[in-house]
Amino acid sequence: MSANRPIVAVYPGSFDPVTLGHEDVVRRTLRFCDRLIVGVAENATQAKGQLFEVGERLELMAEVFGAQERVECVSFSGLLVDFAREAGARFIIRGLRAVSDFDYEFQMAQMNRELWRDVETIFLTPEVGYSFLSSSLVREVASLGGDVSAAVSPPVLERLRRRLPGLG
Ligand code: PNS
Repeated sequence: MSANRPIVAVYPGSFDPVTLGHEDVVRRTLRFCDRLIVGVAENATQAKGQLFEVGERLELMAEVFGAQERVECVSFSGLLVDFAREAGARFIIRGLRAVSDFDYEFQMAQMNRELWRDVETIFLTPEVGYSFLSSSLVREVASLGGDVSAAVSPPVLERLRRRLPGLG
């Protein structure tokens, strides 16, 4: 391994929408990565009740991460390992919030290694206050009119309010 070679990682997900938990994982990754490519999957394995189109998710991410020079947000389709390889990234970042995440994450990490021997999945735990947070909960609570202002950044909240007028 060359000491001068930049460390590039991909952080894949559905990000529907991006939450403060995701932002926390990005912040932590930038402590040891030179460049992070956040990949919005067009075909997530567990696609559940989508709220925002991929293009809208990317717009929100541009607002949230726009000031971070080392972060790039793009969408991808097909296999994650192919996306990572083409992006020149050997590391996959995933957030691990609780034991309940483990089975699914372990399976994905092993399958991705099966598909590409050289890839490494790195799990990061978010700030404990975000350990209960998920995009699907944000979608559900917001669609029922609940307050999600502690879960997402202001641009995301604004977009949720426009999409779900009952949110107030
Ligand atoms: O935020 P999510 O929905 O938990 O992210 C899941 C994601 C996007 C990482 C996963 O569905 C994925 O990698 N999809 C791309 C297709 C793929 O490579 N599937 C095989 C994974 S082992």
